[in-house]
Amino acid sequence: MEAVSSLQGGSLAPSGATAKARFIEVTKRFGTDANSVQALESISLDIAEGAFVCLVGPSGCGKSTLLNILAGFETSTTGETLMDGVPVRGPDARRGVVFQQGALFTWMSVRDNVAFGPIATGKSAAEAGRIADRFLEMVGLSGFAKRYPYELSGGMQQRVGIARALANDPEILLMDEPFAALDAQTRELLQEEIKTIWQSTRKTILWITHSIEEALFLATDIVVMSARPGRIKARLRPDFALSKDPAIVASAEFVRMKAEIFTLLREESLAAQRQESER
Ligand SMILES: Nc1ncnc2c1ncn2[C@@H]1O[C@H](COP(=O)(O)OP(=O)(O)OP(=O)(O)O)[C@@H](O)[C@H]1O
Ligand SMILES: [Mg+2]
Repeated sequence: MEAVSSLQGGSLAPSGATAKARFIEVTKRFGTDANSVQALESISLDIAEGAFVCLVGPSGCGKSTLLNILAGFETSTTGETLMDGVPVRGPDARRGVVFQQGALFTWMSVRDNVAFGPIATGKSAAEAGRIADRFLEMVGLSGFAKRYPYELSGGMQQRVGIARALANDPEILLMDEPFAALDAQTRELLQEEIKTIWQSTRKTILWITHSIEEALFLATDIVVMSARPGRIKARLRPDFALSKDPAIVASAEFVRMKAEIFTLLREESLAAQRQESER
């Protein structure tokens, strides 16, 4: 494990590593009047190709804002955001986004939801159907291809969302608290599933979570953000992402890192609470 606390607003990933995505001194201010909010302050962060980066930080610290800037849904106020060295100017199919919940087409079957992206990019219906079947199998939903989203549980809908994002064969997956609405047991099972998918596809992933355990279980890099305006407080590199053993969460190193991140986050959550009450 390596904690790179000196990253605050500053340097980037190890030299030589290929950055799939890169934030260079990104700031974001919402609004211009007295009520404007400085959401992000000088974020510099490299996301290496194949990395699984988890962003953690108190509510309102700018995590979604940062993810949305890379998605191309938001623009930064200053600074630059790059993918493969090219500035992000808007949404792009090479970046797949999975939201916290919903976002499925309610009027389409599960299979059609997943096939939608491939068809939109010019695949034939038959080819798109095969792609959909492959990814539905990957998320364990082959038996539900003909059902409609309302017939599925929340966890199953989330799996369809993930299959749909993967079916577009994005180079980066951007996931904003994708499991937040799920019960603890479903969440743990899906964490194992997403880990297996990441291990087999090695997609670059940027993942937001409030769960320290989830971050430790999944991530190759954990980026701890400060209370608003969001800055990078620490970057840790756990090595549990390659493990296939769910019992890893009980290991001494896991428990130690959990306590370390808890302390880092608690300071920031208290600061965020003070901010909120002063507003
Ligand atoms: N479109 C917007 N207009 C104005 N302010 C915004 C907008 N989007 C976000 N903000 C503000 O920017 C700050 C960061 O919001 P953001 O949603 O990025 O936080 P977050 O870290 O994702 O929080 P959470 O953990 O609660 O999801 C907040 O103070 C929020 O009120
Ligand atoms: Mg958010």
